Amino acid sequence: MFIAPSILSADFGNFTGDVKRIEEAGADWVHIDVMDGHFVPNLTFGSGVVEALRPHTKMTLDVHMMVDNPEAHVETFANAGADYFTVHYEATKHLHGLIQTIHKHGMKAGVAINPATPVAAIEPILNDVDMVLVMTVNPGFGGQSFIESTVKKMAQLHEYRREGEGANFLIEVDGGITDETARICAKNGVDAYVAGSYIFNKEDVSAPIDALKQAIKF
Ligand code: DX5
Ligand code: ZN
Repeated sequence: MFIAPSILSADFGNFTGDVKRIEEAGADWVHIDVMDGHFVPNLTFGSGVVEALRPHTKMTLDVHMMVDNPEAHVETFANAGADYFTVHYEATKHLHGLIQTIHKHGMKAGVAINPATPVAAIEPILNDVDMVLVMTVNPGFGGQSFIESTVKKMAQLHEYRREGEGANFLIEVDGGITDETARICAKNGVDAYVAGSYIFNKEDVSAPIDALKQAIKF
C-alpha cells in the first residue's frame, strides 16, 4: 500500500521543504499534478518541478499528466526523473502506442480514467499498464468531494486483476481521499492513495498520513 501526498496542496514556494516533511512522516510516493489549462481548466507546473525535486527525495515520483497531447512530454519527464507517468485515457488517441513509448523511456506507465469513463474503455490495454488511476473527483482542482459511483470501478479492476491472466497493475485513487473514503477504497482492492488537502491542510502532516495508513489496514 502506498500513500502519495499530492503537492498540488503543498506550499508552492517551498516544494522541497514540504516533500522532506512528508518523507519524514512516512509517505511512500510524491504525487505531482501536471495541468495544462486545456485538458483541465487549471494550470500548474511542468517537468522542471520533477527535476528540482529528484535530488531531494528517495520517494517514487508519481506524475499525473492532466494535459492534452501527453505524447509530447514523455521524454522531458523521463529525463527529469519521473518514475510513474500516468496519462488520461480521455487525452490521447493512441493510448497503446503511448504506453509503449513511456516504457521505452524507462518509466512505469499509468492510465487514468475520469469519473464518467467506464473500466471497459481501457480493458484492451489493462495487461500493458503498471497502474490504473481511478479518478474519484473530476480532475483539475484539489479539495473536492469523493464521488461514490467510482467505487464500483475499483471493484471491477480488482476483480479483473484477480481473474485475468497477465494483469499486473496497481490501482490508485485520487480526489477527495480522507481516512473515511480511503477505507472504502481499501475494501475494493486499491493499492495507492493520493491525498492533497487532507494532508497538507494540517499543521502536522504525520497525523493525516498515520490516519490514512490505519484506515487502509484491515
Ligand atoms: C485533482 C488532482 C489531485 C488533487 C487531489 O485533479 O489530480 O491529485 O491534488 O486533491 P484532494 O486530495 O484535495 O482532493
Ligand atoms: Zn492527481
